[in-house]
Amino acid sequence: MKFLITGGAGFIGSHLADELINGGHEVIVLDNLSTGRLENVSHLGKGRNFELVVGTILNENLVDKLIEKSDVIFHLAAAVGVELIVKKPLESLTTNIRGSEIVLEMTERYHKKILITSTSEIYGKNINGPLKEDDDRILGSPLKTRWSYSTAKAVDEMLAYVYWKQMQVPSIIVRLFNTVGPRQTGAYGMVLPRFVEQALKNEPITIYGSGKQSRCFIHVTDVVKTLVKLIGNQNAVGEVFNVGSQEEVTIEQLANEVIRITKSSSKLVYIPYEKAYEEGFEDMQRRVPDTNKINKLIGFKPAYSLKEIIEDIVKHRQ
Ligand SMILES: NC(=O)c1ccc[n+]([C@@H]2O[C@H](COP(=O)([O-])OP(=O)(O)OC[C@H]3O[C@@H](n4cnc5c(N)ncnc54)[C@H](O)[C@@H]3O)[C@@H](O)[C@H]2O)c1
Repeated sequence: MKFLITGGAGFIGSHLADELINGGHEVIVLDNLSTGRLENVSHLGKGRNFELVVGTILNENLVDKLIEKSDVIFHLAAAVGVELIVKKPLESLTTNIRGSEIVLEMTERYHKKILITSTSEIYGKNINGPLKEDDDRILGSPLKTRWSYSTAKAVDEMLAYVYWKQMQVPSIIVRLFNTVGPRQTGAYGMVLPRFVEQALKNEPITIYGSGKQSRCFIHVTDVVKTLVKLIGNQNAVGEVFNVGSQEEVTIEQLANEVIRITKSSSKLVYIPYEKAYEEGFEDMQRRVPDTNKINKLIGFKPAYSLKEIIEDIVKHRQ
């Protein structure tokens, strides 16, 4: 099969390209290299099975052409990471709303199958847990830039769902919870690569807020294997799935675990949210997925523990 991966030179997209090519498929990547990197896909070369197209999902003619010649679309291209969203709110909204709309429009034109990656940010400040797919979204004011990512991704979900309901475009929505692993950069506010980088340099580890907020981290290999299983499952069409680990850890515990594994002499330093992001910044205190739905469909169980994930990131950094 020929797969188009939008955002395929990014962290998750490049691992997905590896997984598909290893499975004997052909891959076209469309990426504007804004947060993605050539090094993430350069090992795939310019062989028969791989093509990199540097361009934007906002270019309708280009997206039209690439979707026409693909069998299946993985739509991952997005402005990602709270830090980037807060710093570049307008570009982020345009990419995440208009960009996805264009990709879905062209997918409908050629009636192809599509999987889009949404996010646990959808649930906003809902601290109930584990969060189920049909749980409520609790968001702050739309004038707090931080919620624009959640809102844009919700619009993407609605569009994908409506294209399925109204036009029978076979679409699958996946809400990823914190995904980590080799090739993820800490440059746009992602917590684990930043902690590992700081620990390896024996620099202070900077914790935003109290550090008592909790998250669950899943290895990117577990994620891409799951995405490939889902796209091949007819019962996934028209559905939304949480994908994430259920190993809950506070950010403070995460920092201490990174220090232990890297044998670092780093100390913890706490930075108020207003300083790290913007005035009035709101964070979610807890984010744990309920994964029963996906487990029932494809027998989902992440293979990597948090300790193994950190060790793998360290191994690929040194
Ligand atoms: N990493 C996570 O923890 C996480 C969590 C939830 C959801 N997601 C979703 O997974 C997807 C991939 O995220 P990632 O973590 O690999 O981040 P990433 O930044 O590495 O990947 C996004 C890719 O999209 C590309 N891109 C951005 N704007 C583009 C445009 N206009 N045209 C073409 N390409 C463009 C970037 O260059 C980058 O390669 C995103 O949709 C993101 O919302 C990620």
